[in-house]
Formats: sequence, structure tokens, C-alpha cells
Amino acid sequence: MAQDIFDRLKEDHEKHRALIDQIKQTTGDSEDRRRLFTQFKNDAMGHAAAEEETLYASMLKKSEIRQDANHSVSEHADLGMMFVELDEIDMGSSGWLNKFNHLAEEYIHHIDEEEEEKFPKAKEELDAAKAKALADEFDKRKPEEVERASEGADLEEIKHMIKEEGGDK
Ligand SMILES: [Fe+2]
Ligand SMILES: [Fe+2]
Repeated sequence: MAQDIFDRLKEDHEKHRALIDQIKQTTGDSEDRRRLFTQFKNDAMGHAAAEEETLYASMLKKSEIRQDANHSVSEHADLGMMFVELDEIDMGSSGWLNKFNHLAEEYIHHIDEEEEEKFPKAKEELDAAKAKALADEFDKRKPEEVERASEGADLEEIKHMIKEEGGDK
């Protein structure tokens, strides 16, 4: 039987948990840290974008679970902001590691909450056929979004936004 969107998203979450653990084992501005972090960032950003386009877009259409979707989408924006901030710090510094640890904690909190609260609620509201169709749609959208993330697309926009806000002060 084909996977539904919830199992599909959890599969990515497991990959992200493993990548976070691997990154924590790296030291300094090393090849390994650079490679694993880039992989995590692009996959997490691509995952979030495709998740918004599929599961959360469907949840936004249902008033009972709309606020749950809004909550998660706003956390995606916060996480994007943290990735931008991390990019500006020297990877070999203790500041980078502190910030990464903070991001990791927030990220794990976000995906735990999706799995324990958001997904079960959505599962009740969306029918099984829809949940399977969303998994296919997610698989179609994700590679393109990972590609966009690797080009820095969304993060560049966030960076501009931060700079403009800072300029107003
Ligand atoms: Fe998410
Ligand atoms: Fe997710």
C-alpha cells in the first residue's frame, strides 16, 4: 500500500534527526561539518516548502485545523531566519556551535510537534485517499524545492528582509 503524507514526512524527519546528530559530532570549520550542514539545511528548507505546498495548503482549507497549519508555517519562517543567522557566523567558532545547537533544539521541537499534534489532527480531518495523493504531490514538489534551497532562493529573500528592517531603525 502506498505511503500517506504523514509517513512520508516522518521519513524526512528521521533523516533530519540523524543529520543533526552527525553534525553535532563534527568539529571546527571542517569538510564534514560543511557538507552535512549544507545537506541538512537544503533538505530541511526543501522539506518545509513542499510540506507547506501540500499538507499545510490542504489544512488551511479546513477551518478546524487552519490555526495548526498557521502555527507550523510561522515556525518554518522562524527556522529560516535561524539558518540565515547561522550562515553569517564563522563555522569554526563556538558561536556557530551554540547557534546550531539552538537551531537543532527548535527544529526537533518543531518536528516532534508536527508528529505528535499536527499530523494526528490533520489525519482525522483529511480522508485517507487525500492523504495518499498528498504524498505523491510532495514527492513531485520536493526535489524542485531542494534545488531552490540549494540556490539559496528563500534564504536570500529572508536576508534582504532582515537588512531592510534593520535599515528602518
Ligand atoms: Fe515543518
Ligand atoms: Fe515536517
